Amino acid sequence: MRILLFTGKGGVGKSTVSAGTAAMSAARGLRTLVLSTDAAHSLGDAFGVEHALGSEPVEVAEHLYVQHVDAQRRFEESWAEVQGYLLSVLDTIGVDRIAAEELTVIPGAEEVFALLELRRMAVSGEWDTIVVDCAPTAETLRLLALPEALGWYLERILPVQRKMVKALKPVLTKAAGVPMPGDSVFDALVRLHGELADVRALLSGPEASVRIVLTPERVVLAEARRSWTTLSLYGYRVDGVVANRIFPAGGSDDWRAGWVKAQDDVLGDVGASFEGLPVWRSFYRPAEPVGVEDLREVAEAAYAWTGSVDPLAVPDTPAPFRTESDGDGETTVVHLALPGLAQWVERDQVQLGRNGDELAITVGAYRRLLTLPAALARMRVSGARVEGGELRVTFSRQTTNTESE
Ligand SMILES: Nc1ncnc2c1ncn2[C@@H]1O[C@H](COP(=O)(O)OP(=O)(O)OP(=O)(O)O)[C@@H](O)[C@H]1O
Ligand SMILES: [Mg+2]
Repeated sequence: MRILLFTGKGGVGKSTVSAGTAAMSAARGLRTLVLSTDAAHSLGDAFGVEHALGSEPVEVAEHLYVQHVDAQRRFEESWAEVQGYLLSVLDTIGVDRIAAEELTVIPGAEEVFALLELRRMAVSGEWDTIVVDCAPTAETLRLLALPEALGWYLERILPVQRKMVKALKPVLTKAAGVPMPGDSVFDALVRLHGELADVRALLSGPEASVRIVLTPERVVLAEARRSWTTLSLYGYRVDGVVANRIFPAGGSDDWRAGWVKAQDDVLGDVGASFEGLPVWRSFYRPAEPVGVEDLREVAEAAYAWTGSVDPLAVPDTPAPFRTESDGDGETTVVHLALPGLAQWVERDQVQLGRNGDELAITVGAYRRLLTLPAALARMRVSGARVEGGELRVTFSRQTTNTESE
């Protein structure tokens, strides 16, 4: 099963290109689902079927299904257990019911549950291709950082909580009448943790990739570059860029000629910025592409630009994260791809910290807490450098006595 995510700045054509890619996949006879995680769903508008869409997949053409994830509903299903408990606690201490309801809604919950829906669809085995129409860049980055971050949190909190609850239960229940969380609350949290780990594995696995949609404008390109670095930092594979809404050359109009020239300059920079990745080109159509056929044509035309790359095949782009050990296992180098590094972030903005089995990598405003595999956790960091668009961290066995950097 192939999973394709589309992201990019607001309004650049994410929904159009994701819908088109899905239509193209379905036309090849692949069972295809396109779903949006953006609360402002617009797939329905693109397909011209907004009235018919719901929170379950709806068939819009042969092999082609569309779904607007109802994050609120999924939220209620998965979180009900935990929320029920929190509500009972707040009730005991005298918090008003309406206020309590507000308090027990965790921020970012909608996004998490959109991801859980993606997982549910992926494990159902019903699909050959799942296309995800994501929200604009910043939200997508937050979304994709979530499974790991929440997992990290749950891994540390859960065992402690359980122990505390066991120890305090007799005392607390008697003293204040505060209800203690039952096993079902912990079970719900453990389940959530497992599901988030699945999401993470799915999205950083070899069959998933992210495509960045942009329009040939300086500001848009700047954001697209940064998101490439950040997506890589979080371990997601970017396998291509779609440059959309390109003005076709021709005619004698100065206004048009001006735009064509300006876009052409930026397109040159797009190629240079995303070196090694296919850059597909999609022209500005005379009208909004609406409906399965229009959308499919947009995608076919764009992907035809680099004829040799099959846009639905599993990408051969290297994974953003890999380790390499020398023969006797004395040293291991962790390679973390941070493409475009020199272009938008200075080397001194890359920071590395070590805390037990964790490696904290900060690039500009983004940070990733990487839990090290056991074998690496036992070693010490003996060097780190930025080279060839990668951060390379060298781990050595504890016994050596060179100074660590
Ligand atoms: N190549 C194109 N030619 C003509 N119109 C286009 C093209 N690509 C997109 N559009 C139109 O531009 C508008 C924005 O496109 P779309 O909704 O796909 O962008 P988006 O990135 O999903 O936006 P949002 O960030 O709001 O979700 C739509 O009206 C769409 O029909
Ligand atoms: Mg959209």
